[in-house]
Amino acid sequence: MRKPLIAGNWKMYQTTPDAVALVKGLKGLLGQREGVEVVVCPPFTALPVVAEALKDSWIGLGAQNMHWEKEGAYTGEVSPVMLADCGCRYVILGHSERRQYFGETDMNVNRKLRAALEHKLIPILCIGETLAEREGGRTIQVVDGQLQGGLSGIPAGAGAGIAVAYEPIWAIGTGRTATPEQAAEVHTFIRKRLAELWGEAMATAVRIVYGGSVKPDNIDALMAEPEIDGALVGGASLKADAFARIVQFEKV
Ligand code: PGA
Repeated sequence: MRKPLIAGNWKMYQTTPDAVALVKGLKGLLGQREGVEVVVCPPFTALPVVAEALKDSWIGLGAQNMHWEKEGAYTGEVSPVMLADCGCRYVILGHSERRQYFGETDMNVNRKLRAALEHKLIPILCIGETLAEREGGRTIQVVDGQLQGGLSGIPAGAGAGIAVAYEPIWAIGTGRTATPEQAAEVHTFIRKRLAELWGEAMATAVRIVYGGSVKPDNIDALMAEPEIDGALVGGASLKADAFARIVQFEKV
């Protein structure tokens, strides 16, 4: 059985006082919930204060990006060692905003993914198509390219320590969610490809989460799909009550 994973991607929001208030609110609302893994991914500047606020909590901490080297002359970058030092256990890699605005390529995402595993971080590999690609019937082809590019050379044994986030770009921040059926179709393909890469048993262990306008009012229907193992939540993760409701999804 795969344990559902709900991760909040705070993007470039929240100063340190706001971040602490948000996570404290969340802790109060969430209490304890068995059978789900919850992660918040604040901006780098808020990682230490959020780590402190999450001490003794079951909520995990993640970052939104990292460099692949452990240190070096890379102005403006943050290394996997530094993330671990801040208390991170997870890292989002290859988010479409990084691909779109910062020129991130599958090759660099792959380097980062290898580095994350080396430093015992759980990578959340983001893949997804644009609207033009979907309308052109190229969704599977695009997702496949990003999946195989991102996972190139990763041995089967590492599979269970990786989560994949399917995030159609046209659904991110737009209020336009993929239907549960549309998401499940792509998730099914991803798992089939993972089985070809790593074998059936390992593919079955990998969490494939959905991202793109996940909200309290659509999470239950998404989670009803057996192939959807959780969510990567942007906008709604910035409101404690909305994110808490998403974590408390019900299988309908
Ligand atoms: P959204 O963002 O929930 O605001 O659509 C999701 C994401 O970018 O990870």
